[in-house]
Amino acid sequence: MIYITGDIHGTISVNKRLNTKNFPQQKQLTKSDYVIIAGDFGLIWDGSKEDQYWLKWLDKTKSFTTLFIDGNHENFDLLEEYPVEIWNGGKVHRINDSVIHLMRGQVFEIEGKKFFTFGGAASHDKEYRKEGKSWWSREMPSQEEYEEGLKNLEKHDLKVDYILTHTCSTTALEYIEQRCAIRMERDEMHPYFYGIEQKADYKQWYFGHFHHDFDLPNNQRLLYTDMTKRN
Ligand SMILES: [Fe+2]
Repeated sequence: MIYITGDIHGTISVNKRLNTKNFPQQKQLTKSDYVIIAGDFGLIWDGSKEDQYWLKWLDKTKSFTTLFIDGNHENFDLLEEYPVEIWNGGKVHRINDSVIHLMRGQVFEIEGKKFFTFGGAASHDKEYRKEGKSWWSREMPSQEEYEEGLKNLEKHDLKVDYILTHTCSTTALEYIEQRCAIRMERDEMHPYFYGIEQKADYKQWYFGHFHHDFDLPNNQRLLYTDMTKRN
């Protein structure tokens, strides 16, 4: 079984969101079931005892395996220190036995379904953050990661079951702006995902970052606190 949810933001809400009361379905799960967090996992943050405690809590006390893509609120210096390995067809950082970071531009096969993953997003509050402490320029993808993403999608004939990203395409961004009556900043990730939206064949696209839960056109779903079972 696979459940997908939005931003956790580390110690701020890991307990609240993944405790048995809030997520009772976990009682039926085992380590061969998955909870995927669509970015802003946030427990690779300062390497503190608190982070370590919650990473261990996920590994040792939770029934499921935790997978996450990166958002914009991750410590990329620390994240990139973890060893890279190939897991289910794509590159990951293995955090511990059952907490795994799904890297950008990869296609994974999980429970017989293909997942294209692409984390990262721009922080809109970076002027209030300190580089290397609470903000990292690696929140934005590199040219190589953009290219690797397209290359890997093409290897799968541009057909996957699910797309998992932290931010979204230009069309999704426009929909959110209209629905929430807000104006968001543009960056190069939105047209990149628009290109994928146009040419890739997918069943459902999940993303986070905007702290709302609703469905969008083009089989897309914005996730925050909802714990959704993949459909
Ligand atoms: Fe975010």
